[in-house]
Amino acid sequence: MARLAILEYPDPRLRTRAVPVTTFDAALKQRVADMFETMYEAPGIGLAASQVDWHERVIVIDISDDRSQPEVFINPELLKLEGRATGEEGCLSVPGIFDDVVRAERVQVRYHDVEGKVRERDLDGMLAVCLQHEIDHLDGKLFVDYLSELKRQRIRKKLEKGRRERGASAAPARASAPRL
Ligand code: NI
Repeated sequence: MARLAILEYPDPRLRTRAVPVTTFDAALKQRVADMFETMYEAPGIGLAASQVDWHERVIVIDISDDRSQPEVFINPELLKLEGRATGEEGCLSVPGIFDDVVRAERVQVRYHDVEGKVRERDLDGMLAVCLQHEIDHLDGKLFVDYLSELKRQRIRKKLEKGRRERGASAAPARASAPRL
């Protein structure tokens, strides 16, 4: 397995719209394994292929504390969205930044598993939030797009400063906020 580099906002490659996966082979499984390794080491609870500069519709998620619930969603489509809930989100591509985002509380998703089999599931809670955040990535959208332009300007400045200073890049994360 290999740990992949995670693109950081405002890298324009994060704005790429990912294309559907059409071939379900050993190479796909290898790339999914690399994404899990990258996500676990970050550490985060979700990662979209777009974040590692791979522009196909692949998402990995594990919201468990002990890394026991790896989930792969390939070519996900939201069939139903219900309810509204506000929660604090973070993102591995926007390190050290956390803010409130409104999402659907419950979603129904159709997707392919890593073998190419079509599946449908109803999700709620953190898994539903995480999936919506990651599907946004596949569409070239980031959680900071839901914030005001003023906030985005501040975030860009803060990230630039962090990158300049390096070492200071390990911004203290609030333990409660998921990094997706
Ligand atoms: Ni993210």
